[in-house]
Amino acid sequence: MTKRVAIFISGGGSNMVRLVEDMKGDHPARPVVVVSNVPDAGGIPAAARLGVPTITVDHKPFGKDRAAFEAELSKQLARFRPDIICLAGFMRVLTAGFLRPWDGKMLNIHPSLLPKYKGLHTHQRALEAGDTEAGCTVHLVTPELDDGPILGQARVPVMENDTADTLAARVLAQEHKLYPAVLRRFAEGNLAPLTF
Ligand code: GRF
Repeated sequence: MTKRVAIFISGGGSNMVRLVEDMKGDHPARPVVVVSNVPDAGGIPAAARLGVPTITVDHKPFGKDRAAFEAELSKQLARFRPDIICLAGFMRVLTAGFLRPWDGKMLNIHPSLLPKYKGLHTHQRALEAGDTEAGCTVHLVTPELDDGPILGQARVPVMENDTADTLAARVLAQEHKLYPAVLRRFAEGNLAPLTF
């Protein structure tokens, strides 16, 4: 049975584009909706150009009421009957209440070799620590931020004169390979960690 995938974004959606472009042919999943919490996210027209329905739930009108934002998100999402949610550059922390029904069905990509550098500014932190390698991780989402079981990792060298931007670009190129590869296996029920 073809798995129905919802992809959550907040920005350009470069990971979303690679996921959508990979879900073709004998792939066991198909994209059913792209969801953004940012009304003018560049990923929304990108998804539309790829023929994927989009919904936007702007979190700003809800202020600090995360539960109300998530209730609206769930209501709009339900119409698309997703089996899997892929967070791809989605910058809102989701509450345990939202996550509970998605336990084991929600993936995220994080731009570090978890468990190192949970949270933000991962590349700057790796440079400041003098790391010689960096990378990205796809993991199952749990209520603890950037902490769930690891499904895949890709490593890149840190170069002598790297800046956070040059390192981010090198890592992003690996994200675009890792996330589609992990989603394909996950949709087939294969949770064995993949390492590049
Ligand atoms: C990527 O670095 C990803 O790891 C992080 O958000 C950044 C932008 O992703 N979660 P995208 O281009 O919007 O997919």
